[in-house]
Amino acid sequence: MQNNIFSGLFVGQNLLTLKEVDSTNNFLKNLLTNSKPVPEGTVIMAESQYAGRGQLNNKWHAEPGKNLTFSLLLQPHFLDVANQFDLNRAISMGVYDALRPLLGEHLKIKWPNDIYYGDKKLGGMLIENLLQGSRIKNSIVGIGININQEKFPDEAVNATSVKQILQKENNVTDILADICNNIEAWYLKLKAGKVNVVRDTYLSRLYWFNEKKRFKASDQEFTGIIAGVKDNGLLIVKHNDTESTYNLKEIEFLNKQ
Ligand code: BTN
Repeated sequence: MQNNIFSGLFVGQNLLTLKEVDSTNNFLKNLLTNSKPVPEGTVIMAESQYAGRGQLNNKWHAEPGKNLTFSLLLQPHFLDVANQFDLNRAISMGVYDALRPLLGEHLKIKWPNDIYYGDKKLGGMLIENLLQGSRIKNSIVGIGININQEKFPDEAVNATSVKQILQKENNVTDILADICNNIEAWYLKLKAGKVNVVRDTYLSRLYWFNEKKRFKASDQEFTGIIAGVKDNGLLIVKHNDTESTYNLKEIEFLNKQ
């Protein structure tokens, strides 16, 4: 399906919309195992997922027909596995740039790649890289953004949607096109070797960057300051004049002060 609101060169040019699927990430992964080649930039979007997956083996719930749930195929053969987090950065920034004109300055990227509005989660990403040696062969970029959902289950205390923020209905396909166009722009910057721009801009948009906040790690709560993100994606938090690094499983952000 071709749609002229996708103004980029390849991201979103091949768009498949499904009524219902287990997970668009799974669907795209299966598609790659078929003999027919899948063009880079292919987007699989679903109106409804019955087994949507989030980070840390969590489930991703989204009310059918109201939100953006899609997966995009990238083939960053130029990226060494050691630098795979640069792809997370570039994708997060594409999503950020698409939503920023709509939502304004309260928009942030919560490490590693959640999209936050104030202290609430608007969306997230599940990026699954398929490797060949030390290079990334295929990257399945799954993105879920809450668009027109008005109510969230009690357990999703932290969730918000574009509709809750703006108090008006939004066109899901228009937002998808903006996200695809902006992801392509950041992806091409990364491909062109502008890795420092990618890393610096990511840091400048980071939720809680350089602020004194509460965290929990190794069952201990403490006050710390996010001092940066290592090239490989580990979070650097300063606590009692010592810097420690954490992966996603190792640290929790405590929203209570
Ligand atoms: C997270 O914040 O935990 C990541 C959420 C990622 C959800 C998206 S929805 C489209 C794609 N398909 C999935 O099963 N997951 C991702």
